[in-house]
Amino acid sequence: MTIDPARLLTLAVRLARQAGDLAYRMRSEAASGSALQVDTKSTPTDVVTAADRAVERLVLSELRRERPHDAILGEETGQHDVTDREESRVRWIVDPIDGTVNYLYGIPQYAVSLAVEVDGEVVAGVVRNPVTGQEWTAIAGQGAWRDGTRLTGSRCTDLSQALVATGFGYDAQRRAYQGEVIARLLPKVRDIRRFGSASLDLCMTAEGIFDAYFEKGLKAWDLAAGGLIAKEAGLQVTGLRGQPAGPDMTLAAPAALHQGLHDLLVELDADGGP
Ligand code: IPD
Ligand code: CA
Repeated sequence: MTIDPARLLTLAVRLARQAGDLAYRMRSEAASGSALQVDTKSTPTDVVTAADRAVERLVLSELRRERPHDAILGEETGQHDVTDREESRVRWIVDPIDGTVNYLYGIPQYAVSLAVEVDGEVVAGVVRNPVTGQEWTAIAGQGAWRDGTRLTGSRCTDLSQALVATGFGYDAQRRAYQGEVIARLLPKVRDIRRFGSASLDLCMTAEGIFDAYFEKGLKAWDLAAGGLIAKEAGLQVTGLRGQPAGPDMTLAAPAALHQGLHDLLVELDADGGP
């Protein structure tokens, strides 16, 4: 049976809007961050709110209804395989709220990120900021879009003039190491930005707002949709030393900046350390 990525994207967009509305409503009703029910995950600074869980539950239950034979990977609930029939070719990758710390603090920089894989390749993705209503989408081989505008990345060609976005992990030792890398990178670029949502960082790089982005430690749900959007905007989305983008390193940059930033990150051993 043929699988149509455009139809999968249509569903993903509908779910991202429903999910984003729920996240936004729960945040408004909580009024202040302290009214949100919060637990911690890998470290005391790695938080999960009741909204992360409720939004993921909503997406999972809608997917179960609409696409009962697809597998799902959710940040908060892990992998859901389909056991009652032959292995599904389709897998959904769900980050209910990317930028949870921003969400907790009421900073309007968080997103719902939904991606769809077919046979292990991401074929469609949507990232939606429920506060601004901005929505980025891509289908593999068909370009990346933000609300009807085609995305083509930055035209910057000089690394010393590049505004580079990045992010930090939740583990204290890893952060210390990442801070050292940034200290040595900072004199070589225009400036750096740490906005706190990897999927939005990738989308803003796809849009050319940031000239480039890199981060060590991304999980599948941080990278899947935003990575496709960046790639479809014409950016090179890779790891270091010929590796694919992934947990060790994700670097997204236009061709004119990619090699220079890549080589600098190798020199700084940005994918090393804890
Ligand atoms: C985090 C954000 C952050 C990035 C971290 C992610 P979460 O995701 O995307 O910008 O630096 O690597 O874990 O925890 O808010 O879903
Ligand atoms: Ca998340």
